[in-house]
Amino acid sequence: MVLIAGSANLDFVVRAQRIPAPGETVLGRDLQTFPGGKGANQAVACARAGGARTGMALALGRDAYALALKASLENAGVVLHAQAFDDVASGTAFICVSDDAENAITVAPGANTRLLATHLPALDGYRYLLMQLEIPLSTVIESARLARAAGLQVALNAAPAQALPPELLALVDLLIVNEGELRAISHKQGSILDAMAALPCQTVVVTLGARGAVARQDGELHYQTGFVVQAVDTTGAGDTFCGVLIAQLAAGHPMPQALPFASAAAALCCTKPGAQSSIPAAIEVSAFLAERSASDPAAQHELERYCQALA
Ligand code: RIB
Repeated sequence: MVLIAGSANLDFVVRAQRIPAPGETVLGRDLQTFPGGKGANQAVACARAGGARTGMALALGRDAYALALKASLENAGVVLHAQAFDDVASGTAFICVSDDAENAITVAPGANTRLLATHLPALDGYRYLLMQLEIPLSTVIESARLARAAGLQVALNAAPAQALPPELLALVDLLIVNEGELRAISHKQGSILDAMAALPCQTVVVTLGARGAVARQDGELHYQTGFVVQAVDTTGAGDTFCGVLIAQLAAGHPMPQALPFASAAAALCCTKPGAQSSIPAAIEVSAFLAERSASDPAAQHELERYCQALA
């Protein structure tokens, strides 16, 4: 039902008191490895959210990292359409996580650069194609074209941030971005709402970290305030939001129902270390939501004010 075309990286993570400034060295603690990569994280999130069969097209090296990356995806129930290359390593990411749960990430994309639109499986039976920008832009554009022609909804999480050609934006039905990515894509000055309205996509969702998220669908706005949690590592929270949101929409839930579920899953992801290791299952998200009271009107007002404020 949902096909993800995207990256898989083995994440090498060091926790430190703070993220080093340019030119600075900080002493961190033990090195840990976790399965990651924006595409694979979103596939795991989508599969764990339930309700949507999840497939993933990806490219890997023929190395030990690939085995760990495939195992994590398969354990989550993702159906793999994997290409293996002899002459390039699997993708890796080097992540510093600070004690206040923030991160800085550098990706060595490796085999992710080899993923082509021709590696996509037959598209019949799929309702959504979800992509990110850790694979070649040409692959994203060509895959979006194929998906559109086959009647799928095209969803793009435009991360990491980069300017996008208008021909790609015209092929995207649902765009999910954070504030920095929104500014990189929309050259519009003004508020977040102004920038969203200037994009040609039917639905635009902007994630705003702990503040929450805002969606604009067919001109109608939906606000979702963030859930307060004790964050230990925010890595993968944005990916969790994307994967769960698409799983919810693919299962037929409307945006006002899908948004709180995706936001709650993203908040829970921040409470554990690592990317895929911290993505919750649907049952955990439902239990978390059942414990939380309805949205705080003051937080809702503050979120609306933030989205309307001029940049
Ligand atoms: O979004 C988090 C992910 O970004 C990490 O898992 C890392 O691999 C990079 O792709």
